[in-house]
Amino acid sequence: MKRLLKNENWIALHCSKFGIVLFGGIFCAVLLLAECALAQPPQCDPDKVLTWESCAKCHANEVSVWKQTPHHQTFDELSRDPRASEICQKMGLRSVKRSDVCINCHFTLKTKGEKQKPVSGISCESCHGAAADWIEEHNDYGGNAATKESETEEHRDQRLANSTAYGMRNTRDLYLIASSCFHCHTVPNEELVNVGGHKAGSDDFELVRWSQGRVRHNFLRTDGQSNAISPIERLRVMYVVGMIADLEFSTRATAEATEKSTYGLAVASRAARTAQKLMELNKVVQIEEVDAVLNAFSSASLSTNNQEQLLEIADLIRQSGQEFAVNADGEDLQAVDSFLPNEREYK
Ligand code: HEC
Ligand code: HEC
Ligand code: HEC
Ligand code: HEC
Repeated sequence: MKRLLKNENWIALHCSKFGIVLFGGIFCAVLLLAECALAQPPQCDPDKVLTWESCAKCHANEVSVWKQTPHHQTFDELSRDPRASEICQKMGLRSVKRSDVCINCHFTLKTKGEKQKPVSGISCESCHGAAADWIEEHNDYGGNAATKESETEEHRDQRLANSTAYGMRNTRDLYLIASSCFHCHTVPNEELVNVGGHKAGSDDFELVRWSQGRVRHNFLRTDGQSNAISPIERLRVMYVVGMIADLEFSTRATAEATEKSTYGLAVASRAARTAQKLMELNKVVQIEEVDAVLNAFSSASLSTNNQEQLLEIADLIRQSGQEFAVNADGEDLQAVDSFLPNEREYK
């Protein structure tokens, strides 16, 4: 662990119910540039990864959609992308597929013998959780004789809840799936951005817009064959969940900022911008959990080397986000409609 003395602390945030003011401040601060652990991503434990092939026999439609997405394609394309070699070169990394740094977000790892091998791009399990512990439970309608039609509402709720307990991210708690997206799409890695020149996150990532276009796979919700956009009630919930998760993960990303540079500025302004949007939303629709989120965030100082405070706040935001995701009823959220993106804007 190395202690350094720096004399500038680049950004602070003052956040009140009435608006957000960003101002630069000059401080004298003792920095801890530790081997500080990155905020842990939502886990996709390589020991428990089964790979997409094990989903294919029952979810062939989902697989064929997925194969058309950049999530799948990045596996073959990334190492051929000259921009990727450039990033690796600047960071002193040997190659994309051999570097843990890139693999974490662009690929899925599976344990084979002593080693962990990249087996595909961003896969089913990157978003829904490594499946070894939940695959049996998640499709059990209640014994051999039971079918989708015969399953009771209670059994379905229990099945989804049990699967979540075994590590699955499913529709019961959309916040968990959203966490997967935002963990990767905020790119919480300062060196990768500041030294490697990697994009500092997908700054226009909004969950409805980014999930209902090419990555959309909604077959079970319909007749099993057509891939419809999620119902409006779901989109409302999704929008709010996405905003809360964005705020959680951009706050986490800001917690990793140690210097005033591209990375820190990008993630801190993303957090501030998202909080602003949530405030606007809160003016037209009163959501208890959003109140709690904004309340937690109001004490955040979006400054460098403020890891402890920011992670605590991120945890509080997460708690409210999950409560919202599990309890929300889209029918009550008509006021959200004016915030939803137009279908033409779907990615
Ligand atoms: C043996 C068949 C089978 C296999 C293999 C299988 N699934 Fe499923 N899956 C199902 C069934 C059945 C359902 C429940 C559909 C329903 O809700 O009626 C389901 C539901 C789901 C859901 C939606 C749960 C929800 O929230 O409603 C997800 C996500 C999912 N599976 C992902 C996967 C992934 C990822 C894999 C591979 C690791 C996989 N499944 C493998 C049969 C299977
Ligand atoms: C924390 C997650 C994360 C890590 C780690 C990561 N990437 Fe990315 N990368 C992303 C995301 C998310 C995108 C898509 C950004 C977008 O288009 O909005 C992306 C896009 C890219 C692109 C396309 C750039 C563009 O402008 O469209 C390249 C090239 C790339 N990454 C290379 C790398 C390399 C090389 C590494 C390892 C040194 C790496 N990435 C590590 C998340 C990550
Ligand atoms: C980029 C992240 C991501 C990837 C990759 C992904 N999913 Fe999903 N999946 C989602 C999201 C988001 C939803 C919608 C959740 C909701 O509405 O609560 C979803 C929903 C589902 C559902 C239930 C929805 C329905 O009506 O059919 C199933 C089944 C499913 N996914 C299976 C898979 C399978 C199998 C794969 C791999 C081929 C896969 N998913 C890959 C994010 C992903
Ligand atoms: C494991 C990391 C990871 C997860 C989880 C993830 N993404 Fe991505 N996503 C990426 C990367 C990396 C790229 C860029 C791939 C490339 O171009 O090489 C990308 C690309 C995309 C694109 C294409 C963007 C474009 O410019 O066309 C969309 C849309 C997208 N992601 C949506 C989502 C959504 C929605 C979720 C969650 C439901 C999600 N992603 C979860 C890493 C991730």
